[in-house]
Amino acid sequence: MTILDGKKVSNDIKDEIAEHVKSMISKGEKVPHLAAILVGSDGASMTYVNAKVKACERIGFNSTLIELPEYISEEELLEKIHDLNTNDAIDGFIVQLPLPEQIDEQKVLMAINPDKDVDGFHPVNVGRMALDLPTFLPATPYGIMELLERYQIETSGKNVVILGRSHIVGRPISILMSQKRKAGDATVTVVHSRSKNLEDITREADIVVAAIGISEFLTGDMVKEDVVIIDVGITRVPDATKKNGYRLAGDVHYESVSQKASYITPVPGGVGPMTIAMLLKNTLLARERHNK
Ligand code: GUN
Repeated sequence: MTILDGKKVSNDIKDEIAEHVKSMISKGEKVPHLAAILVGSDGASMTYVNAKVKACERIGFNSTLIELPEYISEEELLEKIHDLNTNDAIDGFIVQLPLPEQIDEQKVLMAINPDKDVDGFHPVNVGRMALDLPTFLPATPYGIMELLERYQIETSGKNVVILGRSHIVGRPISILMSQKRKAGDATVTVVHSRSKNLEDITREADIVVAAIGISEFLTGDMVKEDVVIIDVGITRVPDATKKNGYRLAGDVHYESVSQKASYITPVPGGVGPMTIAMLLKNTLLARERHNK
């Protein structure tokens, strides 16, 4: 069994980008600038956004963190987005999800200039992805594709089962892996909360992408020998033995599934770090496009 070391691969990618930034500086070019909007003070969201900003600093990007109060109106948030859309210093920006109840998420995502949408969530960019046109691929699915590619895991003709149909992970990864591309060419099945005989479907999978948001959902009896496991889930599970009172669990029951798997991503240290690396890659791409 091989552990798919997302932390190591993401560090390799960050080193590659940092080299690129150095050459940009030596040529007197402007370095990429990422901005992130965080609404409210959700613990997990704060952790993710801070990790994104820190990663920018480490590789030589400029970054701006915009922290807004939980009870901000939709109108005020849309104004902030407009400011970033029209600010030439910013190459790309993200609005960390989820957003508070009073705000219409789709309206917010549609307000982002698609040329600065480094999360790839705007309908224009989702459409471009579905048509296999150049775009910003959403960072988590992009990270999964990159991890599969760098570990040279064969996907062509394989049965891939995706658990979950979210806009951020399940839906886009199902599109990408079915396309004619690296880490693609697979036969993809998407299962979700209404699927029947779920275990019968997962047992046929050569590769499972678990993105259902239920901790330790996929257990060893639900997969076949030598399956490849990509675990996207990350949930805080109460654990009295830990100092902070919780441990991080994926959507996969690691102990039982890892006994059958040929490759598996750990949680943490698997898909999570890859997401950040690919966001940086998209920001570099945005900078390069704005030069043209
Ligand atoms: N919330 C969970 N994942 C993501 C992501 O990739 N981007 C943003 N903006 N919010 C998220």
